[in-house]
Amino acid sequence: MKISLRLILSLVSIIMLVVSLFTLYQVRHEKRVLIDELDRRAGVLAEGLQESIESHLANAKFKEIERIVEKFGNRERLAGIAIYDQEFKPLAVTKSLAEYLTHPPYGLNSVFASASPQGRLQDFPPDRKIHAFMYPFQNKDQMVVLAIFHNANHIEARVKVIWQEGFIRWFIQALLISLVTLLIIRWNIMAPLNRAADWIKELRLGGVEDTRPPLPKDIFGSLAKEVTHIAQSLTSARQAAEQEARLRQSGESLWTPERLKEFARNKLQNRPLIVVSNREPYMHVKKGKETECIVPASGLVTALEPVLRACGGTWIAHGGGDADRDMVDSKDRLNVPPDEPQYRLRRVWLSKEEEDGYYYGFSNEGLWPLCHIAHARPLFKPEDWGTYQYVNKKFAEVALEEMRGMEEPFLLVQDYHFGLLPRLIKEKRPDARVALFWHIPWPNPESIGICPWARELLHGMLGADLVGFHIQFHCNNFLETVDRYLETRIEWERFAVNRQNHTTWVKPFPISVDFTQKPDDIFSPDEKKSEKEIILKTLGIKAKYLGVGVDRIDYTKGIVERFRGVEHFLEKNKQYQGQFTFVELGAPSRTLLKRYHDLIGEVEGEADRINHRFRTKDWKPIIFLRKHHSHKDITPYYKAADICLVTSLHDGMNLVAKEFVAARDDASGVLILSSFAGASRELRDALIVNPYDVEQMAEALRYGLEMNLEDKMNRMKRMREAVRENNIFRWGANLIDELAQIRTIESDKTPT
Ligand code: F6P
Repeated sequence: MKISLRLILSLVSIIMLVVSLFTLYQVRHEKRVLIDELDRRAGVLAEGLQESIESHLANAKFKEIERIVEKFGNRERLAGIAIYDQEFKPLAVTKSLAEYLTHPPYGLNSVFASASPQGRLQDFPPDRKIHAFMYPFQNKDQMVVLAIFHNANHIEARVKVIWQEGFIRWFIQALLISLVTLLIIRWNIMAPLNRAADWIKELRLGGVEDTRPPLPKDIFGSLAKEVTHIAQSLTSARQAAEQEARLRQSGESLWTPERLKEFARNKLQNRPLIVVSNREPYMHVKKGKETECIVPASGLVTALEPVLRACGGTWIAHGGGDADRDMVDSKDRLNVPPDEPQYRLRRVWLSKEEEDGYYYGFSNEGLWPLCHIAHARPLFKPEDWGTYQYVNKKFAEVALEEMRGMEEPFLLVQDYHFGLLPRLIKEKRPDARVALFWHIPWPNPESIGICPWARELLHGMLGADLVGFHIQFHCNNFLETVDRYLETRIEWERFAVNRQNHTTWVKPFPISVDFTQKPDDIFSPDEKKSEKEIILKTLGIKAKYLGVGVDRIDYTKGIVERFRGVEHFLEKNKQYQGQFTFVELGAPSRTLLKRYHDLIGEVEGEADRINHRFRTKDWKPIIFLRKHHSHKDITPYYKAADICLVTSLHDGMNLVAKEFVAARDDASGVLILSSFAGASRELRDALIVNPYDVEQMAEALRYGLEMNLEDKMNRMKRMREAVRENNIFRWGANLIDELAQIRTIESDKTPT
């Protein structure tokens, strides 16, 4: 109320000021026009009279002059005429004027001085306004002034009218503008704010499901965004607290972020966790004039990010975004996640040559195809190997810098990009506890022998105290490889490698996802029901069943094989033509490499060929959406799909399979999963297929679509239980726990 009153008073004052200024201007203008008009009329009259007055003055015919003065003193608005000599003495004056003209008119002296005509408004008693126009002319050797007086009361009357009109205008405008402003404020600001206040109250009381506040985006966009974050944090915190309480009640030992946080605090003894990976969790990229923060499509990021959020610490990674440098401090650090910082990201810069040799070259043209049995020939170049060694050293220096001043720091090295890093660290910091987690498969010893620097690589890896793979099979392959190529003592019962007075433990740690539902994954019941329809409508498709695949576009993911499986399914099961659509959400990856670049064309070509074969007016079997999709974009597809296809030709784990299961809180949906993905060891209720076998894939699709609801739900419930139990927090805890138990050279010195 107070605000409204203050607002109205301000508005009224501003309008008053504006209207007054305009009226003042109008008054001045109008006055000028009227005076000019009088000047003009008086001037014409003066010129007309000049000649006859001149001749009468010359002949001293004063009677005649008086007659003229009287004659012209009685015209409309004309108040009279007077003639003055140089001593300002009136030579003749209209009689009716004489009693008021006790003094010569103002300005007479300046008219004589300047010898040019002038008009002036003058006050005449009792309350008359008179306009005096003074016209000088030469009479023989002296100058006389003919003064013509007009009544000017009409000018004052006009000014009064203008001020009155101005007041009325001000009053009406102030009234209307205040009214309209109040209505606008009430409808567009107060009403949404009141609704938002009610909503926040509900949120506080725990009665809100949708974390988006009822605020119009056009006016309250940034406020709505911030409030959404607060609501999400509150909802997450509440869910976590409820979950903790539930778990305590039921005595369950589920791993949660809070439990991991507590566990890590205990095990790390207040040391921050240090993680090194090639891929960064948040990448800043330029989009026109804006800078956008994206989460790269990466299983590693999906898995590790929740662990860092829970434990805190420092994540060292390559700053690969084109706006990354703009976002860091002088030490190349920034706190992330951007909306709710919980740990530190330390970016490492690589030159184009370094990236080419280490990332594209040795890591992705050499080790990647070497470790994945996907029948792509590995390419090993000595110069790439040199760069790989150099970049490993560069990251090691950064990691050592981040560890400075810390006793027995904990370092988690990620993936095949950093095979040499563990030893480089251990040489400088023998007290550090170093784990290397290999996110991709480890093949048999014969395959590894292809790499000309296999021994050096193994030597570098064995610098770690702990080497982790997703599954036992990869651990076994690794130990056999070490046994084949290096002089070591392997303890098969304990899965440990002893070499040069150092033990490396080799263990499986099946990586996973954050199973807890995030607030932005929650749909209101109505939205959920129609999610499939919304997706199909957006895609411009009519279909009854929806299949989904989510991948980086990589030849190991079996995307082309998957499309062929869909093709064969439609061939064999004609009743599904026009009914089943498969959507592939494919994020372009490593496209600077020819194999990856060509693959995009191959995938597109295959989709086009199959679509051309089966498509109808408003249906097609395959939709290939080639772009980076955020977690938020993907979740609706997971939730709406009848079937999710994960058909990797070879995969360490594959987290898409687990993400799909985690997203299905309706305990429905079918997962078709490659037997060559690590996830198939845990998700035994998926329909396990050989992706090279189109018959089997087609049959799995049919079986999955026709599976009865009970079977479907039972399978999904069991898979959800498996993922819930073995979630990413358990993975993080197991890794930290193992590392904490390791006796480093330094801790060996301390008597226990
Ligand atoms: O899935 C294996 C993996 O190497 C992950 O560890 C990595 O995050 C992912 O591939 C993505 O690869 P890139 O970082 O090269 O895009």
